[in-house]
Amino acid sequence: MLIPYRSLFLCLLLVSGPPLTSKGQSTSSQGLVADHAMVVSAREEASKIGIEILRQGGNAFDAMMATEMALAVSFPVAGNLGGGGFLVYRMADGRIGSLDYREKAPLGASKNMYLDKDGNVIPNLSTQGILASGVPGTLAGIFEAQAKFGKLKPKQILQPVIDLARNGYVVTKNQAESLRMHRQIFIQINGLNTFFGKEIKEGDILKQPVLANTLERIAKYGRPEFYKGETAKILVNYFQSNGGIISKKDLAQYKAVWRDPIVFPYRDLKIISMAPPSSGGITLGQIMSMLEPYPLKKLGHHSPEYIQVLVEAERRAYADRNHYLGDPDFVKIPTNQLLDSAYLKSRMSNFSFEKASKSADIARGDLSFSESMETTHYSIVDSDGNAVSVTTTLNGAYGSKVYLEELGFFMNNEMDDFSAKAGVPNMFGLVGTEANSIAPGKRMLSSMTPTLVEKEGKLSMVVGTPGGSTIITTVLQIILNVYEFDMGMQQAVNAPRFHHQWLPDLVNFEPKAFGTALVNQLKSKGYLLNEGNSPIIGKVDAIRVLPNGKLEGGADPRGDDKALGY
Ligand code: GLY
Repeated sequence: MLIPYRSLFLCLLLVSGPPLTSKGQSTSSQGLVADHAMVVSAREEASKIGIEILRQGGNAFDAMMATEMALAVSFPVAGNLGGGGFLVYRMADGRIGSLDYREKAPLGASKNMYLDKDGNVIPNLSTQGILASGVPGTLAGIFEAQAKFGKLKPKQILQPVIDLARNGYVVTKNQAESLRMHRQIFIQINGLNTFFGKEIKEGDILKQPVLANTLERIAKYGRPEFYKGETAKILVNYFQSNGGIISKKDLAQYKAVWRDPIVFPYRDLKIISMAPPSSGGITLGQIMSMLEPYPLKKLGHHSPEYIQVLVEAERRAYADRNHYLGDPDFVKIPTNQLLDSAYLKSRMSNFSFEKASKSADIARGDLSFSESMETTHYSIVDSDGNAVSVTTTLNGAYGSKVYLEELGFFMNNEMDDFSAKAGVPNMFGLVGTEANSIAPGKRMLSSMTPTLVEKEGKLSMVVGTPGGSTIITTVLQIILNVYEFDMGMQQAVNAPRFHHQWLPDLVNFEPKAFGTALVNQLKSKGYLLNEGNSPIIGKVDAIRVLPNGKLEGGADPRGDDKALGY
């Protein structure tokens, strides 16, 4: 393994916030409750600006543009102009849809671009520096969504974001620590005088005048500024002069794509999630369908049997994910077969509570058919009842670490989400195949899982999280915590989490959150556990619609996340 799986956990650590208590619980289990509207995001500044736009008469899609750009200013580790993302929405009248604004491989990319002459993966080439970036989709995404459904003018929406960049915001403890940890790599990649190369401490006011100027031009000229205007020129010039391959044509051709979401039932719920090129919806659907025959509530929350059945369903679903899923514009995906309940029942037929299955014995299912961690999620419900669930990313912390000094933002390292070589794990330990190999203009497979839950025909939950390959299993556990174990939204977010992804064959636990007796029971059944040094898993930002119609926020105490509403 050239890129060790432990990188996954290093990356996860970078998103980690204050430690959980010895029980893995934050002290506050009641989330903010609001009567009409709510925004939950990774930063108070972003939630505040989202709410401000709603109060000015904007709807969820206007607030999406505001929140996404405010995260780009106040949460540069993952919020972005240089990355991409996915939106899943539900209108108040029940219409649903999703928007794919995932990055694309540049036209100059090629299948073996990260391999040396002997066919081995060159360490770090797909994760750091000039060749690691895909063509950014974020600006295309927010303008596409806002133009189709929003009510306000982008200029009005972006003004508070420009003010935030120009006037600055207070650096939190988590943020100061994260910037400190990455300072050397920023300098190594961008030179001594790079903007984030200076020491930035907790309590400092961080002003970003260059980013404010970029945002000002975007507010004035709209989407074309990023893909064809001065911003595009500066970006392409930087890449072309520094050995990169992103070209003028790459930017000019980039388009966000409306896609049908993945919709599946689970007991009395309807789950609406992201379709490929995210693996989130299909993999979540497979896991939940495999779980449905089991009496989870009776097994008990975090009982050995509950953990076993989730792990075994996850093992089988990730094996399929890694084999079958990729960009649907490039590979044919057997979605219906992958989500077929008879097929999924048969997948679990060799599972026994007596003994762990071995990932080595669980290949992909045999279908007759010729695919930081640093991501961030926000959830919004407006006063009309429109909901957006949005996950956006640079991939790793601060993406490729390439910081465009003249534009004021970091570029993604999303190329690492491709399978650089079949069978060789990426930084999340995910092992891919041909379906997710690199091709010019292709979108890399994602695990982002922005999700909505309907109950009795009504919006019931908006949920999502960062966490790379752990995103899917985190969203799963939040849904089960609420609907199987009757937890409130905040309580469900606070609860400790675990994760399995087929390969490597390990169950990962949040630290100090699961008792020794439980761990020993699982070990006795043959489960390989990653305990002790495993970090927090995910940072969930979610909203639940309570039976009385009010909204409860779940803002993850593992980060600086914040729910605001009115
Ligand atoms: N870059 C993380 C993901 O898309 O899954």
